Amino acid sequence: MFLKESDFLCPVCRAKLFALPSQLKCLKGHGFDVAKQGYVNLLLDNAHNKRHGDDKLMVKSRTKFLEKGYYEPLRNAVCDVIGSGHKVLDSGCGEGYYTETIARNNSVCGIDISKDALKVAAKRCETFSFAVASIGDIPLKNGSRDVIINIFAPDSPDEFSRVLCDGGRLITVQPMERHLLGLKSAIYDEPYLNPAVEYERDGFELLSKEELKYSITLDCNEDIISLFKMTPYYYKTGKADQEKLTKLDTLTTEVEFCILEYRKL
Ligand SMILES: C[S@@+](CC[C@H](N)C(=O)[O-])C[C@H]1O[C@@H](n2cnc3c(N)ncnc32)[C@H](O)[C@@H]1O
Ligand SMILES: [Zn+2]
Repeated sequence: MFLKESDFLCPVCRAKLFALPSQLKCLKGHGFDVAKQGYVNLLLDNAHNKRHGDDKLMVKSRTKFLEKGYYEPLRNAVCDVIGSGHKVLDSGCGEGYYTETIARNNSVCGIDISKDALKVAAKRCETFSFAVASIGDIPLKNGSRDVIINIFAPDSPDEFSRVLCDGGRLITVQPMERHLLGLKSAIYDEPYLNPAVEYERDGFELLSKEELKYSITLDCNEDIISLFKMTPYYYKTGKADQEKLTKLDTLTTEVEFCILEYRKL
């Protein structure tokens, strides 16, 4: 029987996983069901993996907000840096807003530790190259990707080096000092700036750096609340400060992204 290789490795024995109609399976018989939405859960249930990333509320808020197009300039800029015809890993892909567009011109797989995020991501893209997995233990072969993208997701320098081929590129997006300062000013009396972005990265050379800065105006309360709930501020803010936003119908804020492109040395 002809077995179709999947993108992923078995998290138990690190052998190749093959795609059966509703399962990925290795030759040693470890099997992982493909959920009806089309993603596969490769996260082993151990203490290391107890944190499960973004919850349903954050995912729903991010989807609502991103679908309004506020971050479309960022999506276009990231796609331009990636180019086309590459084997891409979207690490910490979330609900797949960027992944879907990157997949139009590239072969992409996405991992995220949040099942709720992947339920949305897998519905956006027809293929089932989406796995619940940790960035700290990526279920992909050494040197199997020529581009890894990491947009506002945790870093994993050793794993990114391992999974990238020689000369492969890592593209990260990080918030700059004044990113979302307008939102923070509406909540806090003394809003702080984000820490400065660090460019140096061991084992990688910086190829390009693009600072993308613009201002967005959210003109309904629903969008303001969606933006707030997709950020960590929602979870760190007391009730009194949270309520300041329920009265707002319009909010203008800076958004500032730094897109860094590295080559693996
Ligand atoms: C701020 S969100 C960004 C999502 C997406 N890249 C975007 O920009 O829309 C961070 C994502 O990283 C995921 N995440 C957090 N820790 C992770 C880990 N250890 N392994 C994989 N994903 C993780 C979260 O579940 C979440 O989806
Ligand atoms: Zn196995």
